[in-house]
Amino acid sequence: MHIKSLAIALAALATPSVAGIVQGFSYGSTNTDGSCRRYDDFKHLFERAKNLSGATGFTAARLYTSIQCGTSADYIEAYKAAIDTDTTILVGLWTSAGRQVFENELNALIGASKMLKDDFTKRVVGISVGSEDLYRSSPQGVINGEGPGCTADEIEGYIGWLRDWVKDTDLEHIPVTHVDTWTAWVLPEASKVAMAVDFLCHNSFPYFEDARPNAIEKAADNFWSAVSATEGAAQGKDVWITETGWPDTGPIRRDAVPSLDNAKTYWNTIGCSLFGKRSTFWYTLVDGAKTKSDLSFAITPSTEEIPKYNLTCS
Ligand SMILES: *[C@@H]1O[C@H](CO)[C@@H](O)[C@H](O)[C@H]1NC(C)=O
Ligand SMILES: *[C@@H]1O[C@H](CO)[C@@H](O)[C@H](O)[C@H]1NC(C)=O
Repeated sequence: MHIKSLAIALAALATPSVAGIVQGFSYGSTNTDGSCRRYDDFKHLFERAKNLSGATGFTAARLYTSIQCGTSADYIEAYKAAIDTDTTILVGLWTSAGRQVFENELNALIGASKMLKDDFTKRVVGISVGSEDLYRSSPQGVINGEGPGCTADEIEGYIGWLRDWVKDTDLEHIPVTHVDTWTAWVLPEASKVAMAVDFLCHNSFPYFEDARPNAIEKAADNFWSAVSATEGAAQGKDVWITETGWPDTGPIRRDAVPSLDNAKTYWNTIGCSLFGKRSTFWYTLVDGAKTKSDLSFAITPSTEEIPKYNLTCS
C-alpha cells in the first residue's frame, strides 16, 4: 500500500463513526416547577417516552448538561436513569457559562464514564459541545435578549479540550457535535465549528420564524429550507435534528398560531417524515422550567402520560 493511501485509511479508522438513526426528546435539567430533575424524574420521563400511546421508537435522550442540577460537578442523574431504562444518550456539555463551568462539565462526564463504565459509554451516541451558543451571541440572539452565548473560537477551543481529555478513555471514539440554530450554522464564523465536529445538530422552529410568512401551512417549506441551509454549511457531514416542534398554547407569532390542531399537523407533516429516517429529538415530551409565559411545546402534560393529540403517523 502506498504511504498516502495508508495514511488515508488510518485517518478513516480514526474518525468516529456516527450512529445510525436515533430518535427521542431533548431533556432539560429542571422540572416544569423549576426544581432539579432527579434520577426518578428522568427515569419516569424515559419510560414515558418509550411507552407513548400511538408512537414508538423514542428510545434516545438528548441532554444539555452533564452536571446534576444543584451541584458543581456531579454527573447528571439522567445517566443512571438512561442505563436503567436502556435509553441511548446524546450527551450535552454547557459552554455558555465560562471556562470553569466547562471544565466541570468535562469532569462530570469523565466521572460518569469511570463510575458507570461501559453501561454508560456504550449508550452514548454523541457528545454535544454547546447548544445554541452561536445563536445567542449572534446579533439576532442579542436583539432577542436570549442571554449569554459564546463564540465559534470558544466552541472550537472547547472541542479540542474535550478531545484531548477523553483520549485513551472509553469516550475517545464517540462522535463529537455541536447544536445550533440554522441561522447560526450559516454564519461565516460557524464554518470552523462545522470543521471541528464529526456531525452537526440542527434546531429550527418555523413558529418562531417571524422574518418570513410562517403560518402552519408554510411550516413544512420553512422547516426543510432551514435543514437545507444547515446542510449547505455541513461540509458533507451528517445533520441531526435536535429540536423542532410546534406549540399548542402561547402567543400568536406573526402568522403562526399555537393550537392543538396545528401542533398535531406539525407532528404529522414534519415529525412523521423524520421519524425512522433521520436522527431526531422532538421538542418536547414535557415542558421544562417555564421561562416564556404560557408557551407549551409539550406533547404530554407534565402530570399526565396521555398525549395531547393522536401521535399515530398515518
Ligand atoms: C405504559 O402505558 C400503559 C398504557 O397507556 C399504562 O397503563 C402504563 O402504566 C404505562 N407504563 C409506564 C411505565 O409508563
Ligand atoms: C389515531 O390516528 C390513526 C391514524 O390516522 C387512526 O388509525 C387511529 O384510529 C387514531 N386513534 C384514535 C384513538 O383516534
